[in-house]
Amino acid sequence: MTLDVSTRRSIARFRRLRSSEGLRRLVRETALRPDDFVYPLFVAHGSDVREEISSMPGQYHLSLDRLAAEAEELRELGVPAVLLFGLPAAKDEEGSEAYADDGIVQEAVRTLKAADPSLVVMTDVCLCEYTSHGHCGVIIDGEVDNDSTLDLLSRTAVSHARAGADVVAPSDMMDGRVAAIRAALDGEGFETTPIMAYSAKYASAFYGPFRDAVDSAPQFGDRRSYQMDPPNAREALREIEADIAEGADVVMVKPALAYLDILSRARQRFDLPLAAYNVSGEYAMVHAAAQNGWLDGPRVVLELLTSIKRAGADIIITYHAKEAARWLKEES
Ligand code: PBG
Repeated sequence: MTLDVSTRRSIARFRRLRSSEGLRRLVRETALRPDDFVYPLFVAHGSDVREEISSMPGQYHLSLDRLAAEAEELRELGVPAVLLFGLPAAKDEEGSEAYADDGIVQEAVRTLKAADPSLVVMTDVCLCEYTSHGHCGVIIDGEVDNDSTLDLLSRTAVSHARAGADVVAPSDMMDGRVAAIRAALDGEGFETTPIMAYSAKYASAFYGPFRDAVDSAPQFGDRRSYQMDPPNAREALREIEADIAEGADVVMVKPALAYLDILSRARQRFDLPLAAYNVSGEYAMVHAAAQNGWLDGPRVVLELLTSIKRAGADIIITYHAKEAARWLKEES
């Protein structure tokens, strides 16, 4: 078909700048880098433990003696940070290993900082992995009590800072916890320790594989009385605003992929660094499809991580961190 000259001129020729990889690289708006990633680690008691998590293939429970090798691998790949989760020796009503100075996370912080002082060690501050009932706070009369939980969270954050954590990241969703943790850190001389707050954390079914991994499913009820209701967007902005007012240094949206609209709105509204947590269920889903040959794993993972960055995240917490860093290196 031949078009007349004026029709031809009126066509917007988007394809001109897509015609070669060089041109595409020049006009690419979003660049994913290993520098963007935080890699979650699950630390367990014992020695020589490297046990694959069945619901999260490719992710492991690691004992302390395996952490130096992990730090070395991350350094080679250019991934700057880890986020630690612990599997305690025993669980109890008050989650006491969460704030024990010789708890598994506290030991892991010391081990990792000794192995590589330049690795940014972040810690998840929560009680659910440590409580026998699996909730993120203290139970009073069958309910998760907000204000009595703040003290235990503050003790947990201080014990992590004392062990040498670079960043503490409260994920419990109690009201007022950022202010309580900030005051406790400052009171103990840790005014330079930043808080990355899980600010807009939804009551999501995508945490399923993680709860298998750390055996933290609530023994009664669910987390809907403290985590956010998925249909709410404006409320997420209010949560983030409140955390900033309480002293958060980094704010987070979690999960990432089903909540890209929240990330994008948070990016437009706030100037703090913004983190997104690409959670266990999001990881497991892609992994299972790739395993079956239904999706091209590397391409899909990089496309998804790019979507999180494009939506506005500065920091991406992802179980894909190591493989994605490897694939990015191969691409360049
Ligand atoms: C602890 C916590 C959870 C996750 C991070 N911190 C589980 C939960 O809230 O139930 C989920 C991480 C993931 O699914 O990858 N409260």
